[in-house]
Amino acid sequence: MKPVNIGLLGLGTVGSATVDLLLANAGDISDRIGRPVRVTHAAVRDPSKPRNCDLTGVEMVSDPSELVSHPDIDIVVELMGGTDLALQLCTQAVNAGKHLVTANKALIAEHGNELFAAAQASGVVVAYEAAVAGGIPIIKAIREGLAGNRINSVAGIINGTGNFILSEMRDKGRPFDDVLREAQELGYAEADPTFDVEGIDAAHKLTILASIAFGIPLNFPAVFTEGIGNLTAEDVSNAEKLGYRIKHLGIAEQTPQGVSLRVHPTLIPQSQLIANVHGVMNAVQVQSDAVGESLYYGAGAGGGPTGSAVVADILDIARALASAADQRMPSLGFLPERLKNLPLLAIEAIESAYYLRMQAADQPGVMAEVTGILGGLGISIEAIEQTEPAQHDTQATIIMLTHRVIEKQMVEALQQIEALETIEGAVTMIRVEHFNTRQSS
Ligand code: NAP
Ligand code: HSE
Repeated sequence: MKPVNIGLLGLGTVGSATVDLLLANAGDISDRIGRPVRVTHAAVRDPSKPRNCDLTGVEMVSDPSELVSHPDIDIVVELMGGTDLALQLCTQAVNAGKHLVTANKALIAEHGNELFAAAQASGVVVAYEAAVAGGIPIIKAIREGLAGNRINSVAGIINGTGNFILSEMRDKGRPFDDVLREAQELGYAEADPTFDVEGIDAAHKLTILASIAFGIPLNFPAVFTEGIGNLTAEDVSNAEKLGYRIKHLGIAEQTPQGVSLRVHPTLIPQSQLIANVHGVMNAVQVQSDAVGESLYYGAGAGGGPTGSAVVADILDIARALASAADQRMPSLGFLPERLKNLPLLAIEAIESAYYLRMQAADQPGVMAEVTGILGGLGISIEAIEQTEPAQHDTQATIIMLTHRVIEKQMVEALQQIEALETIEGAVTMIRVEHFNTRQSS
């Protein structure tokens, strides 16, 4: 049977791993779909760069816009990253009637609505399994496997680089920059690693997860994002002593008041499975009405796991080529005209428990002032600890865990506490999640 011809945009970490995988498992791939898959064309930025894969029979194209409309290509696979040229080329590809596979979460989160509309008009598929959580087939699990459920929340460790950094800092006491450099060398990090560290990459992925879980249009600007760059070794160690672990979580939740979309460092009890996801591994926890809680775990970044998702999408499309366009899976799993514009919850309106750390003058009455402010705003304290000041130091450290409260109340309390003459500098606040107390809407 006629082979499926692939045109690849990009032969970096994911592109070269995809070529390798298509060659290594060519027999099984052909047995699964009844025809071979071959990469016929590829475009890169620097054609003189040596590549980590066998490019025998692959025509290198200097102009990527020539590749995306090449008559011999069935599926364009975009693995170059970025949102400007990538959007232009992907739009050109779908307008030319090419099916599209991409690992580019920034592209889907920021421009997916328009790209999906263009693909629908052209009767082609845009597949993006590789964009979220690397080797975990989480798009398929939510969009297809849980299609009979109403999903209440999705929460996960969805950036491998960030989790690798936090794990190495905690387990080996390694400095942040050193671990980030290693993540870059291992091919985990984004071209601009601030996307990993600041939570932008996780926010892109959360945008996608929320849309397929709740049936809402992609809305990247609605995600509240806080990075891991300001986390201190002291907070990591305090969390451990209190029986918690700090993870960088993406949380999408449907509440009776609206949908909350947020990425931030979070204390999780060490007893939770998700607190024990280390290194580059990702995990996504889904709360849905029929199944209850389910957890999906696997490598979150790197060439092999991501290439695996790219190849799976290629095979899905190869099968879909035989079906009518209106019989195919809608891009977000819901019919585009049935997507709902649900109200969105501002971060001040979420409910959470909190970890607080502050420097206080070592003198009588300070603790009473602080707890008085919290109590006055209806914030109840779950645990409190004051560490003795070091010799010659006049400052003590106060660490607290609170019960759940609306964030607006906590922000108000922090303003009042920071205004106290006995409190030095800013109070550190990190949200705490227990998951079992999560309310279904
Ligand atoms: P990468 O190693 O930097 O590779 C990017 C590739 O795109 C390179 O081959 C580069 O060419 C090519 N490229 C860049 N700009 C180009 C242009 N203007 N014209 C033609 N080719 C161009 O990136 P990557 O890690 O493979 O990531 C690729 C995509 O997958 C990104 O969207 C990323 O977010 C996503 N992703 C990555 C991972 C991961 O673990 N790495 C996981 C999931 C998703 P040169 O080689 O000549 O520079
Ligand atoms: N930079 C991303 C990460 C790649 O570390 O998770 C996988 O999407």
